[in-house]
Formats: sequence, C-alpha cells, structure tokens
Amino acid sequence: MEHKVIPLRPYSAYEREPNPREDAELTHVGRGSAAGEYLRRFWQPVALSAELGDLPKKVRMFGEDLVLFRTKGGAVGLLEPHCAHRGTSLEFGICEDHGLRCCYHGWLFAVDGQVLETPGDPPDSTLRHGVCQGAYPVHEYHGLIFGYFGPPDRRPAFPIYDSFERDGDRLVPYCITYPCNWLQVHENVMDPAHGVFLHTRISFAQFADVWGQLPEMDFVPTPTGMIYVTSRRWNDNVWVRSNDIVLPNLAQVGHIWEDGATPKAFSRVAITRWTAPIDDTTCRIIGWRHFHPEADPRGLADESLCGVESVDFVGQDGARSYEERQRIPGDYDAQTSQRPIAIHALENLTRSDRGVAMLRQLLRREIRRVGEGQDPKPSPLVVDGRVPTYTHDTVVVIPATDDVEADREAVRAIGKAITDIVVKGEHHAAPDREERVRALIRTYAEDHQTSVA
Ligand code: FES
Ligand SMILES: [Fe+2]
Repeated sequence: MEHKVIPLRPYSAYEREPNPREDAELTHVGRGSAAGEYLRRFWQPVALSAELGDLPKKVRMFGEDLVLFRTKGGAVGLLEPHCAHRGTSLEFGICEDHGLRCCYHGWLFAVDGQVLETPGDPPDSTLRHGVCQGAYPVHEYHGLIFGYFGPPDRRPAFPIYDSFERDGDRLVPYCITYPCNWLQVHENVMDPAHGVFLHTRISFAQFADVWGQLPEMDFVPTPTGMIYVTSRRWNDNVWVRSNDIVLPNLAQVGHIWEDGATPKAFSRVAITRWTAPIDDTTCRIIGWRHFHPEADPRGLADESLCGVESVDFVGQDGARSYEERQRIPGDYDAQTSQRPIAIHALENLTRSDRGVAMLRQLLRREIRRVGEGQDPKPSPLVVDGRVPTYTHDTVVVIPATDDVEADREAVRAIGKAITDIVVKGEHHAAPDREERVRALIRTYAEDHQTSVA
C-alpha cells in the first residue's frame, strides 16, 4: 500500500500518516526472501574461532537457529539444532573425536550431518543410513568461521581478497552485534558525511581534526562493488580516501586515525568486515582489524580491545552508559536508532547520500538477477588467487591557491585522478599491483609539482 507522507509544515506530527513499511526486497533475510536468498550465495561469517571452545555454540543466521561445534579432531560443523531422533537441541551435545553426540539418546552426527551412530539400536540396525541431520558447509580462515547457506550445487570457492594476505599485516578477529537490520549498518560505510558530523563536529574529533572538514565526495563502481572517494584540503596537503563495498555485504575501511599530515600513497586497509544478517532486526559485524606498521603512525590502535563484542575505537557497541552514548554518540547509537529496520520511504536523501542510494541500487540489481536464476558475478580480476580491492588513504602535498573556488576544483581533480589510478588500468592484473599503483601516484604527484612519500 502506498502511504502518503504529509508535506512538511510546523507542528505537523499529528497529521502524519502511519509509518510506511520497510523496503522488504533489500532488508528482509528470512528463508525465501529476495535479499536473504541473494546473501546466501556467498560465504558468511558466523563466529570467531575464539568463540568456539569444547562446547557446542548456539548461533543464528538468516533467522535460523543453528549449532556450531568443533570435534576433538578439530573439524567444525554447523548443524540444525533439533536432533533428527526426537528433537533435543544439539547445543547440549558432546563434542567427540569425529562428531557431535546428542545428550538424550546418544546419536552421533558428523560435521556434514550424517548419522554415525544410533547406540540405542541393535548393532545390525540400518536406521542411520536413512536419516541425516541438516548441515551447512563451514570454512575456517584467519580466526573466523564461515558458513555457506545457499543451494549446495551453487557453492562458490571461498574468495581471497588482496587485503587478506599482505606481508607484515596481522589480522585480529572481532565482532559486534547490532540490534537492527543488516542494511543500515552495511550502508554506513558508503556514508562519508557521517565522518564529518557524528565522528567529529557533533562530539569531539574521535579520529582527527581533519575529519571535520567537509570533503569533496564521489562514488565510483569497481569490479567488486563500489567505493566512496573523499578529497580534503588540509593545510598544504590533500588527503584522498576510499572505502570499499565488496558486494554484497563485505566492507573495507581505511586508516581509522588518519590525520592527513603525512604524505603517503595507496596506504591500505584498517578494517575488513562483513555485516552478517542474523535475522531481520539483528546483524553482526564480523571481521578483522588490521595491524600493520603503515596503518597506525600515531600508535593509537589497541589490539587488546579487539575481540568478541569489542573493537578499539569509540562508539562501536552498546556497552557504554546511556548518558555517555547520548553525550558522545557513536556509530552504534546512530545506526541502531534508525528504527529496527530503517524505513527508506520516510527518508529525505541529500547530495551526500548518493553513496547510500547507489549501494541500494547495486544490491537491488543483484538481488533481482539472482532471483531470476542467474549466478552472482564475482570480480573478473584474480591475480595469484587474490582479488584486488580498492580501499586506500593517499596524502599528496600541494599548497592551496588564494582562490577558494579554484582550490576546491583542484582538490576534486586530484581526487579524481588518484581514483582513476586506483581503480582503472591494466596494472590491476599485475602481481606487483600495489607498487605500481604507488609509483603511478608518485608520478602524478611529481607531474603536478607535489610530493608523496
Ligand atoms: S533426541 Fe537426540 S538422540 Fe534422542
Ligand atoms: Fe562511522
């Protein structure tokens, strides 16, 4: 049903129509939903390896309760919770050498759901051959446990992006649960304007003063999804930054405490994170904080704060007092309070929301393609088994002219030129891509009488 929103006039709250509904095509994730069936076609993180000890663990994905466990032999399984015998939850099961044993009558299940033993039966019983516990495939990688929830014959290889395996980079797993829909948390990564307001001008400079400078903004498609491009003047420098969205629900973020002060070219990722859909009104950010010498020149990162329901920068979870969250709100407070499922029909999008709008468009296009029976399209670029991604921070030295408008244009042009180097060109299919991108940026800077490190 179409809902009419009353045109704005003062004191009009009583006159408003009841709330329109959320955009179910993009937000709902239960079995059979359009977005849910699309998201199921990709490996999704379900837990940190550190969360899985010698007991089974209840997890939830796409509105389904499941039980995750590790055998004594080290294999990981993800089973439907209710035992195929008479329904007792396998969260009370016993992890054994080759599977999970139900506590009630001792049936033993392998990680793929096969019934290995039905010990209450006579030894010659063949019952177990005609029964199987529901199971999903699992892949463990860099301290995260992923599941594949889609049709078995369409299971993709686990994709390795370039940022997953860089020399000198340490990937520290973390997760945070958000009591709201997955999309509003995910699309925040394509909303660079909130860095100016939420993270800087509204409370205090949570990262650095330069974040309060309203940037020139652009949003650019990539072979994996899209990036935002922000370009800012900061004293004699111009700071160009991009964050990735890798479709559908993987995002990568550049340096958290970047201050625009030190020249650099194509400095890479500080956060890789999936927004995993738990159900329609719960999601979980699961991913890695990257600890790399280039990512933290001011020594503000703190690995000891990264783990289960915790990360090392302010405002990312609901653990702070309500008063503190009101006085110094963070991402968690802004996003979870957009309603349990943000209602797009009630929004008034502005120019700075172009990234959010573009992401919704891309997702809708892919959801419909998959809904029509086509397969998701991975990036065609794979170099030595790794897929290039585009997140970066670059700082070039180019002093401002006195003409404010001309300088604004210059800053925008620098952002565009550097983005072309980062996103376009044959060098992205080269094994030494990072060095080549950096060299091209340096050459560009020299040609424009700038300098970069
Ligand atoms: S209910 Fe699980 S073995 Fe009987
Ligand atoms: Fe943020």
